[in-house]
Amino acid sequence: MTLPGSDSKYLLAIETTCDETAAAVISDDLQVLSSVVASQEELHRRYAGVVPEIAARAHVERLLPVIDEALQRAAIEPAQLDLIAVAHTPGLAGSLLVGVSAAKALAVALDKPLVALNHLHAHIYACRLAAAKEIFPCLGLIVSGGHTSLYHCHSPTNFESLGGTIDDAAGEAFDKVATLLGLSYPGGPSISKAAESGNPKAYRFPRGLANQKHRLNFSFSGLKTAVRYEIWGPGQPVAGPPPLSPQQVSDIAASFQFAVVESIVEKTLEALKQTRLKRLCVGGGVAANRLLRERLQQETARLRVELHIAPPALCTDNAVMGAIAWEMFQAGQLADLELDVLPGLVRE
Ligand code: KG4
Ligand code: ZN
Repeated sequence: MTLPGSDSKYLLAIETTCDETAAAVISDDLQVLSSVVASQEELHRRYAGVVPEIAARAHVERLLPVIDEALQRAAIEPAQLDLIAVAHTPGLAGSLLVGVSAAKALAVALDKPLVALNHLHAHIYACRLAAAKEIFPCLGLIVSGGHTSLYHCHSPTNFESLGGTIDDAAGEAFDKVATLLGLSYPGGPSISKAAESGNPKAYRFPRGLANQKHRLNFSFSGLKTAVRYEIWGPGQPVAGPPPLSPQQVSDIAASFQFAVVESIVEKTLEALKQTRLKRLCVGGGVAANRLLRERLQQETARLRVELHIAPPALCTDNAVMGAIAWEMFQAGQLADLELDVLPGLVRE
């Protein structure tokens, strides 16, 4: 790691959009001085999904210690900070409020400028940090527990939304299908593990919105319902462990994973075609999926498109990707104390 110069400026970025409480200190030459992430996975595991009320309360308990630790690890005093940034959209309302309130309080107390981040733009910016070179313009694909979105990223401060899921996010579908199959939470890693010994062609599951190939929206709820009916049959209640052999579990996991991955790949290729972009940047927890990575590598190599997939620690929620705040700061895009949370996705 190169050390930031003596005249460097320092950013404190805060991330509390969902179930990760995170803070990071990044210099204006994009050196990461510290990154702290407190995951709430263990709190939500028994519910097999994120419980908003529990998430918000956990952020309240953890955020100040997480910020303290980030400053300590960076060896930066609060007064040395030059900029405060916080993700204010999209996300869970209660979770977002905790981060935004803390960021506003810090900005007032320290008399520093404040930047309000779009969490999805920050996910794409994770690729900029990992690549350590310019990535714009590019096609941005975000596949996470809460989002499945495609963007035409003209510049770090100009993102044009091309499409997104009209129902469940890809990661959410992995989590819900894992529960149906009696596999552990989070569902992504447990489904891909079970899929290793399964046949992806054993079941023919539907690809959401495949008949609207030219449209860049995704849908995963029909696929999830098809899996449910395959296991329990229409009209039958879901009760207890699934009546399946281990091989059937693996085959369903593999066939489901195949359907999700192919539908993401298909829409991404369509977006590359429509935008004629020659660079693809991928972020979000589902980007850790091996089959998806392999398929995107194959297809982008075939099309001679440059591919950037952030490493796992930068794919899942973190505050380092909040470094995009420096770009916004330079573009004069500052927030004021009227800043509010925007839980729903705002279409650019
Ligand atoms: O980006 P992330 O950490 O949190 C959100 O912002 O949602 O993504 C978490 C999601 C979970 O739904 C999890 O099941 C999924 O990412 N995930 C995976 C894999 N690892 C994590 N999905 C598919 N394959 C994986 N290997
Ligand atoms: Zn995220």
